[in-house]
Parts: sequence; structure tokens; C-alpha cells
Amino acid sequence: MGKMSVRDIDVRSKRVLVRVDFNVPLEGNRVAVATRIRASLPTIRYLIENGAKIILVSHLGRPNGKFDPRLKMDPIAKKLGEFLNMEIKKIGTCVGPEARAAAEQLSPGEILLLENVRFYIEEQDNDPVFARELADLAEIYVNDAFGTAHRSHASTVGVTRHLPAVAGLLLEKEISVMGGILEDPKHPAAAVVGGAKIADKLSVLKNFLNIVDFLALGGGIANTFLLAKGIDIGSSLVERDKVDVAMEVIEEADSNGVGFLLPEDVITAKKISAEAEINSVSVDEIPGDELVLDIGPKTAERYAAMLKEVKSCIWVGPMGVFERDAFAKGTKKVAEAVAGVETSIVGGGDTASAAEKAGVSDRITHISTGGSASLEFLGGGRLPGIECLKEKQSVF
Ligand code: 3PG
Repeated sequence: MGKMSVRDIDVRSKRVLVRVDFNVPLEGNRVAVATRIRASLPTIRYLIENGAKIILVSHLGRPNGKFDPRLKMDPIAKKLGEFLNMEIKKIGTCVGPEARAAAEQLSPGEILLLENVRFYIEEQDNDPVFARELADLAEIYVNDAFGTAHRSHASTVGVTRHLPAVAGLLLEKEISVMGGILEDPKHPAAAVVGGAKIADKLSVLKNFLNIVDFLALGGGIANTFLLAKGIDIGSSLVERDKVDVAMEVIEEADSNGVGFLLPEDVITAKKISAEAEINSVSVDEIPGDELVLDIGPKTAERYAAMLKEVKSCIWVGPMGVFERDAFAKGTKKVAEAVAGVETSIVGGGDTASAAEKAGVSDRITHISTGGSASLEFLGGGRLPGIECLKEKQSVF
């Protein structure tokens, strides 16, 4: 049935509290990367066009209940105002008389941005009194913060006890696109999984084994799988305590008939540095004192060729240390191949940056705005910020 969205409810002239994820990188007092702010614009524009009185609330960073002047929402208010070409009313609190007065003074179509909600420890504690005070500002609650949907906080979960709670358009899109590929992917389907640690991606790997026809691995994760196969991976990043788990995944892939692809060649160096001598070697010849820092050209070709044959794919985790050009070629090749697939989904913060760096972002079907949230979702987890929203058939 699915969750109710902002389109399923009458917002006209109502005060609507919208939880957004404006947790964006800052450079001094300006927004450095505005992707998440841009991603929230469809919901905000919808609410403006439908005459809602909009109250936005977000966290920024992890101030852990303490006021930090570097994490105030002012640069975000400025950026949002530029995008929407309108004044954003910004206050220095989230609850209390100032917040209540500012919310009550809103006219239809106007926007109020509250201060960083994590300046209050009550937010992370999901304190019921704080949640009630936040909820009292509004008549309707909209959650559009997919990136924070894995947190059980006052502004993501607590408020929903007091207000009709529905999904924003971004949250709705994240659920429908990622949920769609998990439930009914177009076959053949592939997953490419990289990044540093198996521990972060284990549930994702296991979930994908029931969904995809091909699973290709890179990054630090692949090292542990190579080790499980008896390959000496030199001085590379490896999780020796996860070799058994890697073996289980290999066996399950085999019994599920999933084509399991591991690197056959890799890029190595003694250290992560542009000056270090870089080698391209077969996985059987990894020098004992070197680190695996990228997949090699043959592996990249093989992964790209596999991706040419599939109709849908999910990519989570870079293939190597893509932040350094010397070790970014494998990730770039995979990014380009992923972008060529009919339906392509990218999850996890690093992978979104890798797609951006490879210049393919605009050719990917969906780049999730969630980091850990998208990994939890793709791993089959239930996100508390989504669970507590109203089901479609609900009547308020
Ligand atoms: C993110 O950047 O992944 C989200 O904004 C959540 O942030 P958090 O990990 O600090 O809760």
C-alpha cells in the first residue's frame, strides 16, 4: 500500500513542519555542496504552490546537544533563499515562545527555517516533551529527510505521535525507486559493492544475493574475499575476522546461482601517495609490502562488460581510493558503466561523490541522498523515520 505523501493531504493554509536533511558540507559560512538542499526543493515548492505555511527543521553536523556557532543554519537559509528566490525567515531556536510566535505569524507560501535541531540534546534522546513542543508549532508533519530516516530522533519519530505524519516527495521517491529495485528488479540485474569494510555492507551483500544475477566486488571489501579464496593480498586493508563471513557469502552466491565477480588484477603501491611507485598486477602477484588501492584494468573491463548486459544495477561503494587520481581509474570505469545501465541506482555518500567525480551523476537513474540510511534501506532494514508515517489507507 505504501506511505501517505504530502500530495494525499490538504495543506492549504496549514502550518506544516517539514523535517529536511540539510546536513550539507560547509566551507566557512557558505554551503560547499548543495545537493541535499536541491533535492528538497520539489517538496518545498509543492507546499508553496499549495498555500502551506512552511516550517523547516534539520540537523547540521553532530553538535551533540551543544550550541556551536559553526553549525548554525544561516548559510543554508541563504542558499535556500537563492534557490527559491524568496526570503527565508530564520530564527535561532527550535521550540519556545520565539519559535511559536514565528510559526504563528507565517502567511501561506512563507518559509520559516528553525535552528540546528541537534543543538538540543533532547533531539537525539527523542525526548517526548521536546517532540511535543516541536509538534505544537504545526498542524501537519512531513518527513522529507531520507538521509536521517535511520535515526529515531524527536524530529524524525517523536513528533509523529502528535501530528498527521506523511512523506515528502523526496522521501517518497527514495522509497519507491530503491524499494522498486529491491522488490522487482529488471533482470538481468547486477550489484557492484565496494568500499572499505565488509562490516558496513554485510546486510547489503546478503540482501543483494536474493535479488541480483551478478555481484561484483571491489575496494577493501574485495580484499577479504580474495583472502578467503586463499589469495595473498600483501599489506592491504583486510578484515581477517570476516574471512568466514566472506566464505559464507561466496557459498550463498553459488547456491543462489549469482555470478560472483572478484578482481583478477589490481593497482598496488607501498603507500597512498602520488609519489609512490604504482604497479598494475594480477591478484596472484601482489607484492607482500604493497597495498591494493584500486581494481586493475582487466577487472574494470570485465565489470564494465558485465554491466553492459544487465537492465538494472545498484552500486554501493567505490572500487578503490578514488579520491586520489592515481587510484581512481577503476571506480571511474565502473561509474561510466553503471551510468549506461537502463535503471541505475547509487547508494551511500562516498559512491555519490565518486559518481560526481566521474562526471556521470546526471546519467544515473537515482542517486540516493542517504549515506548510512540508504545502506540500511538497501540492506533490507526498516527505517524508523519511514515506519512511523501514515499508511496510504489511513484516515485522520
Ligand atoms: C547523513 O549525513 O548521513 C545524515 O544527515 C545523517 O547524519 P548522522 O549520521 O549524523 O545522523
